[in-house]
Amino acid sequence: MPKNELTQMLYGGDYNPEQWPEESWDDDLKIFKNTQINSITINVFSWSLLQPCEEKYDFSKLDKIINKFSNAGFKIVLATATAAMPAWMFKKYPDVARVDYQGRRHVFGQRHNFCPSSPNYQRLAKQLVTQLTKRYADNEQITVWHINNEYGGYCYCNLCQQEFRKWLKNKYHSVNELNRAWNLNFWGHTIYHWDEIVVPNELGDAFGPENSDTAVSGLSIDYRRFQSDSLLKLFQMEKEIIEFHNDKVLVTTNFHGTPNPDLDYFKWAKFQDIIAYDSYPTYDTPAYQTAFLYDLMRGIGNGRPFMLMESTPSQVNWQNYSPLKRPGQLQAQELQAVAHGANTVQFFQLKQSVGAQEKFHGAVIAHSGKQNTRVINEVKQLGKTLQHVGPQLLQTTTQNKVAIIFDWSNLWAVNYAAGITKDLDYLASVLDYYRALYEMNIPVDIIGVDSDFSHYKLIIAPMLYMVKENLGSKITNFVENGGKFITSYFSGLVDETDNIYLGGYPGPLKKVTGLWVEETDAILPESVIKIKFNDGLSADGTLLSDLIHLERASALAYYDSEFYQGTPAITKNIFGKGESYYLGSKLDNKSLKHLFKTICQDQNDSLSITNYQYSSLELCKRVTAKTEYIFILNLSNQAEKIPTSIDLNKYETLLNTDKNSSNSIKAWNVMILKRNRLISD
Ligand code: GLA
Ligand code: ZN
Repeated sequence: MPKNELTQMLYGGDYNPEQWPEESWDDDLKIFKNTQINSITINVFSWSLLQPCEEKYDFSKLDKIINKFSNAGFKIVLATATAAMPAWMFKKYPDVARVDYQGRRHVFGQRHNFCPSSPNYQRLAKQLVTQLTKRYADNEQITVWHINNEYGGYCYCNLCQQEFRKWLKNKYHSVNELNRAWNLNFWGHTIYHWDEIVVPNELGDAFGPENSDTAVSGLSIDYRRFQSDSLLKLFQMEKEIIEFHNDKVLVTTNFHGTPNPDLDYFKWAKFQDIIAYDSYPTYDTPAYQTAFLYDLMRGIGNGRPFMLMESTPSQVNWQNYSPLKRPGQLQAQELQAVAHGANTVQFFQLKQSVGAQEKFHGAVIAHSGKQNTRVINEVKQLGKTLQHVGPQLLQTTTQNKVAIIFDWSNLWAVNYAAGITKDLDYLASVLDYYRALYEMNIPVDIIGVDSDFSHYKLIIAPMLYMVKENLGSKITNFVENGGKFITSYFSGLVDETDNIYLGGYPGPLKKVTGLWVEETDAILPESVIKIKFNDGLSADGTLLSDLIHLERASALAYYDSEFYQGTPAITKNIFGKGESYYLGSKLDNKSLKHLFKTICQDQNDSLSITNYQYSSLELCKRVTAKTEYIFILNLSNQAEKIPTSIDLNKYETLLNTDKNSSNSIKAWNVMILKRNRLISD
């Protein structure tokens, strides 16, 4: 049976009425109504109120909140409250608390710190969620169940160690196979019994800060996979309970981070009815990085629209400096998420708390309690915009022809790679490519190694260091069948357990790239390697440079300095009906764009929204079968020109926050345009 879908764009966010006297709830409700807010997320951290001791539940307050807001027509996002454990649980069952990387058992405090393997945590969470779902499963205003909160972090306790051994047994079956997979004859690490495996904490094989260095990378990577799986099991446990009582309602948890490195979100995404993401760009986050995260959230969900589950209506309180959002910035930034596929706009938080850690975090209702504030006026304005455009956008999708691969196992593996430069940074490398495409207004999907490649014209896999079994042939087939593929230095080096593919780099990508790499040079900081393209362009390479032997490939550019001057730096291989490109060094932004332009123009592929008119405006498209919606966003502090290739006369204007000029858009202003789709689209 298919699940429900969102019938309207949710506009609202986290609300903690339990922190306030009941008499104030009506005033809050009135303000929400006046500001077009139609939804509240509640109960995120209420476990200690719902269960004062193990033997007793008390839902009286939550009943009142749910009744009041349901009756007033609000859609409710109901959290399961399992993210912050009550004090009595730590006292009674110390095993619910995590043991950290230093081997220390934690005590009551903070949140998000439950041990995923603790039977007591599992049992008590299960009981709480059972109570909650029995009680509220039939309430039709509850549109989404929000499990836990921002899962992340790892535990290194004995229970986790035991579970890890089971997880490994299940994966490797014999200790011999494990010895092989992790190359354990290295440094005399050979094991003979499963119980000789210990968690990779600071007392064991890891060193440096958590998740940074390790003696046995296979072990540390597997531990991250295991912890991600263990937390996912908790999510699934709660989800099954909810679905037992209501198999129609949407169930999700909120993803976070830039992105969160701890969880394999592609794996987690399969279990989410709708992807939800908490977005907190800092004051100095470039807009392309936020765009990347939204594209990633759409990508992990296989292109489905997602929820913008949290964002701040004003300041945050956790940056070194938390400037106010400039006039218009709120609307422009929230619409950036919508432009990339968000079907909700939700804030943290609706009412600013009176005490403790987050009292200076921005909110819709500020400490003044007043209604005629700058923030509320902007929230109201955005609410009106969403009311107008939301219903049209709800059913749209995004269909892009270009994709960039992002993979969590690869992130972990690159992270532990000891050598050959300390500046290896997988995410930064992916972002370099994303940024160049973003600046060319070429819309991109972020996909995983297991995603369907067939509907893309161009797939880019920067720094794809770990190529697990079958991925090499999947990429090779993609190119053979007409796809274009770009990869780079530090790709195709290791298998799933971080052992090198022997016989020349880039292992399983050798065939499709038509070359092999003999050695790789580390470029020193502040230095560059000169690169000269055949068409005359001079470029700078940094980070690494591969010493390449061409087999079937030809060179598009050569190194122009160092002892390997005159050898290939960037190559092209025509393979089957497609082409693959290999970048031996990290190219500067300008040269990367030059290369993309060459590749994309080769066969007149119209991949860009503007035909490569660079613009500092962000351009996005959401489409239905018949209609397309173009978002033109100015996410900067200054006015920007609209590219002339966008003929505004051909569109209906749904939103134009800058009504004064027709060929430029003022700082933090947005246009949304609409037209029928052309057959050629
Ligand atoms: C996270 C949490 C929220 C809140 C915000 C503050 O996203 O989920 O509970 O703490 O950060 O920015
Ligand atoms: Zn544990």
